[in-house]
Amino acid sequence: MDKFIITGGKKLSGTINVSGSKNAILPIMTATLLAKGKSVLHNVPFLNDIKMMAHVLRVIGARVNYNDNTLEIDSSHCSFFEAPYELVSKMRASIYVMGPLLARFGEAKVSFPGGCAIGTRPVDLHLMAMEQLGAKIDISHGYILAKCSKLKGNKINFPKVSVGATANAIMTAVTAQGKTDILHAACEPEITSLIEFLNKMGAKIEGENTDHLIINGVTRLEPVTADMIPDRIEAGTFLIAGALSGSEISVSHCKPEHLTALIQKLRESGCTLNIEKDSITIRPGKEILPVDIITEPYPKFPTDLQAQFLTLMTLAKGQSHIRETIFPDRFMHVAELNRLDADIKVEGNTAIISGVDKLSGAQVMATDLRASAALVLAGLAAQGKTTISRIYHIDRGYERIEQKLSAIGADIQRIQG
Ligand code: UD1
Repeated sequence: MDKFIITGGKKLSGTINVSGSKNAILPIMTATLLAKGKSVLHNVPFLNDIKMMAHVLRVIGARVNYNDNTLEIDSSHCSFFEAPYELVSKMRASIYVMGPLLARFGEAKVSFPGGCAIGTRPVDLHLMAMEQLGAKIDISHGYILAKCSKLKGNKINFPKVSVGATANAIMTAVTAQGKTDILHAACEPEITSLIEFLNKMGAKIEGENTDHLIINGVTRLEPVTADMIPDRIEAGTFLIAGALSGSEISVSHCKPEHLTALIQKLRESGCTLNIEKDSITIRPGKEILPVDIITEPYPKFPTDLQAQFLTLMTLAKGQSHIRETIFPDRFMHVAELNRLDADIKVEGNTAIISGVDKLSGAQVMATDLRASAALVLAGLAAQGKTTISRIYHIDRGYERIEQKLSAIGADIQRIQG
């Protein structure tokens, strides 16, 4: 297993480019199954989660080619409507094949996703939406089997906001007969990008960027070519790298309007941010001020930047509180950050961070994707050498992170295991 060795304390400077958004691309990859023919996606990073989803689609019978940040998916010959345990257990987002398979072929079999490092993560809302659209769901031997003869539009009122369930509900409803109302829908940019992609394919979905979606079912969708949106979480991670290392850096190829909550919190922490159309320059203040955050659905502060912002707060001049309302147990990074001499306590779903004067390099272990990003940030700021093991987690969601950070002055090396 590969490791990172980081020698902290280096000043960063320059511009870092953001890659395409993994969380936007994964559902769009499965949405291509809704049309017969070849769809082409541009601005696709070469990430393990994308490779894994390509594998899932190949198992179903799609032809998938990846070349130079472009992904071609030809779904003309799909004939096996199953996502097996071996794949779903490695990537929960495999559940995204369920809606499109059901909509196009009338059946889908997907291994029941297990727990993961950030919590239990149920899929009841995905299944509720499909049932309300007319699917019959059976769960046995660790598999979810969904079948339908005809999907019919309906009112789906989610009791809580779920990105994944909203995406699956939309993909199930686009070709259902009649009108579907989705209430309490997620309105993350990744959902909006899925809606735009589907509308380009010929779907009729209104209400993007709001929590009430109206879908008028169509009988047929066509394959399309589209650019994928930039990754707001990667962009946010790099902005926090600037704040933590006391460095002025620019983050380019991003959409600042997707990062409003983070930008506000970085300003409260004493940084100056200069916003352009597709780039943000961060200039850190003299010291890091303590800032409280609460993670909530978009447009509020994203849970996927909680670990990274918490890392920034370890060096703040005072105490801060971070409340996690999306995945209440998502604090695996705390114990690792404390190994670097941070002072963090967790009480229920809240981390209480008492800022320290410095972090000290140590050996730590990555536990999940965003926790690994937080450890990289901590390593950049810590004095001395930090070794991070199990970095396969970070390769799921950050494209060439060590090369991108080295190019702006970080001392980070990958040691192949
Ligand atoms: C997606 C993102 C993940 C991000 C999360 C929240 C992808 C591939 N992953 O995950 O990076 O952290 O959104 O922004 O895009 N829930 C249920 N029942 C369900 C589904 C979800 O109770 O059927 C709960 C979850 O346990 C959680 C909350 O709803 O407490 C939100 O989860 P959800 O938005 O569904 O997250 P994912 O789509 O899995």
